[in-house]
Amino acid sequence: MAEILREGNLYHLRNEQVSYVMREMPGGVLAHLYFGARLERLNAENLLRRANVPADEGFSVQECTLDRLPQEYPSFGLGDMRDGALTVEGPDGSWAVDLRVEKAETLEAKPALEGLPATRGEGSAALRLTLKDAHTGLTVLLDYAIYDDCPAVTRSARLVNGGEAPLNVTRAYSLCLDMPDDGWELITLPGAWARERSLSRRPLAAGHQGVSSRRGASSAQASPFMALVRPETTQALGEAIGATLVYSGNFIANAEVSQFGATRLLMGIDERDFAWQLLPGASFQAPEAVVVYSAEGIGGMSRGFHSLWENHLLPGRWMNRPRPVLLNSWEAAYFDFDADKLVSIAKAAADAGVELFVMDDGWFGHRDDDYTSLGDWSVDRRKLPEGLEGLGERVRALGLQFGIWMEPEMISPDSDLYRAHPDWCLHIPGREGINSRHQLVLDMGRPEIQGFVVQAVSDTLKASGATYLKWDMNRNFTNIGSAALPADRQKETAHRYMLGLYAVMERLVTAFPDVLFEGCASGGGRFDAGMLYYVPQIWCSDNTDALCRVEIQCGTTMLFPPSTMGCHVSAVPNHQTARVTPLETRFATALGGSFGYELDPRKLTDGERETLISQVAFANRTQNVRLYGRLYWLQTPFEDNDAAWMSVAGDRSEAIFTLVRAMARPNAMPPLVRLAGLDAKRRYRVMETGEVFGGDELMQAGLCCPLPYGDAASVVYTLKAED
Ligand code: DGJ
Repeated sequence: MAEILREGNLYHLRNEQVSYVMREMPGGVLAHLYFGARLERLNAENLLRRANVPADEGFSVQECTLDRLPQEYPSFGLGDMRDGALTVEGPDGSWAVDLRVEKAETLEAKPALEGLPATRGEGSAALRLTLKDAHTGLTVLLDYAIYDDCPAVTRSARLVNGGEAPLNVTRAYSLCLDMPDDGWELITLPGAWARERSLSRRPLAAGHQGVSSRRGASSAQASPFMALVRPETTQALGEAIGATLVYSGNFIANAEVSQFGATRLLMGIDERDFAWQLLPGASFQAPEAVVVYSAEGIGGMSRGFHSLWENHLLPGRWMNRPRPVLLNSWEAAYFDFDADKLVSIAKAAADAGVELFVMDDGWFGHRDDDYTSLGDWSVDRRKLPEGLEGLGERVRALGLQFGIWMEPEMISPDSDLYRAHPDWCLHIPGREGINSRHQLVLDMGRPEIQGFVVQAVSDTLKASGATYLKWDMNRNFTNIGSAALPADRQKETAHRYMLGLYAVMERLVTAFPDVLFEGCASGGGRFDAGMLYYVPQIWCSDNTDALCRVEIQCGTTMLFPPSTMGCHVSAVPNHQTARVTPLETRFATALGGSFGYELDPRKLTDGERETLISQVAFANRTQNVRLYGRLYWLQTPFEDNDAAWMSVAGDRSEAIFTLVRAMARPNAMPPLVRLAGLDAKRRYRVMETGEVFGGDELMQAGLCCPLPYGDAASVVYTLKAED
């Protein structure tokens, strides 16, 4: 049961799994005392003594005690020498802030964040602490929430200018988490295009370490995520604390080990490309941050995040709901198609049992390559003479749903839209624009551009009757500047872009509640909790090579559940790596998420087309367990040549186990993998072999998994409880 306990000057959020404790110090400074496994009670003096800070009399900010005090929302410059969470320039030009608690209220449930995605309020217990800086009149509302069913705490900060002079916010982070020791290793998920969310694990060192994105998107290169794990922590055992943002734009995450060996995690919008003018009476909402704790290893932390997103973030319509098996035309046809070709691909897909056919890039303007037409969202009648209506109808006549691709945030210099509105892109007057993939970025912060995008997407959905829209975004920001903002507010551009994008998404998902929106940014270049508030799944990577995908999916599921990852079987040789892997292994890997195809089924052999029929049937039959079961990485591809994972149904009656071997090992015994998450007392039948084992036996002695010969070999087993 999630609850907020208030004992004197202690604020304690807890549920069955975790506790988060803060304390109001004499004078109102807000200290952070504890985040970890659930506590019955906590002796604040004990922890403050550890930090060498007097608990009551004798506590004074005058003597630089703040430099040792663990805090909730600190500022640099008034005694704390570590990096702070907040910097605000006042009318006198100074930038330090001294926040003191004015009020504490428990709320019915956590309120929504104005203009930003956030975990939803239903079922939460929430606390609001109001803090004030007497010098500037700035008020900060810190909202905290906890749910019954997740080892997580959410928090957000809202700044209100209660003074009489304008303020300039130059840093407004979302998270400060002060941990009393530095006995941790730091996990982050660095990457690149086609190599998203790889693994970095390193011991914490004195000073600063961290990751950031200044690309205008959370990015393939650095996810807004950090975990602290004990050196001995594994997937299955040991302490792990993870932190992330519900935000899709620029961010910074930093871990600072202080001179006293304490660790401060900070996370928020990267201030290097940010400032916000706060006029008297105005407010600024910083994005939500989430922290998760588990003593059950990295896997426990991941499952904590998964349950939070699945139960409290994803769009309600798609929470725990089946996803259609789709076939996307991109790698089947690229820009080279007409209606007949698409219909013939769709027909072959329908024959295999596919449910949704998606027409990717190339259907509008005169887009025969990626040099042109973004922004001109009118159908190219050379390719589709009967328009979107006609193609949609022909696809539906095959018994398929129809889906479509758009890249609504972009504009090609070669487009009617650009010729009509050359100032609609992000740009710096007088400087040459920088194209990337031959395109520019629309200034989404501007209401008229938001209106244009909503109209273009709505018209496309209505004309095509599409029940699915792939929302792509294929470049990062340069020339960051907005024609709509005065010179002294240009640093608001990137965040205003995100607010504009979220406003557009909100309008569209509300207007088209039955459409399945899939996010994409050159693959997984904007895969974050902010986007997942609107779109239940995101194309995980343009790299569909089975072996690469095991790594990408392993890294991605450290934070996000399988249902959120678009995972497709593609053709060989693979278009990104030229590697040839067996169809079975491409299938085994794609089963790791929302399943589909990215190939031309007409080019398969008869035998392969037959195989597709059984693949689609299997994917559908197992999707509830695969997408919404509890995920266990038994062996990760970052550590082992054999990667193995399994998803276990909530009631442990069923599980899907997958093993993928990267390189063949001659003269080796077959792998023996110890399973996890089963009911030790039940017996399970491996449906593919007919054998029956005890749950305890599978988890303790392991399951022997003979593999076919060759590289990239795999096996998938369905386990069903017998009783
Ligand atoms: C990038 C995406 O990741 C691909 O799947 C495809 O949609 C292309 N864009 C189309 O331009």
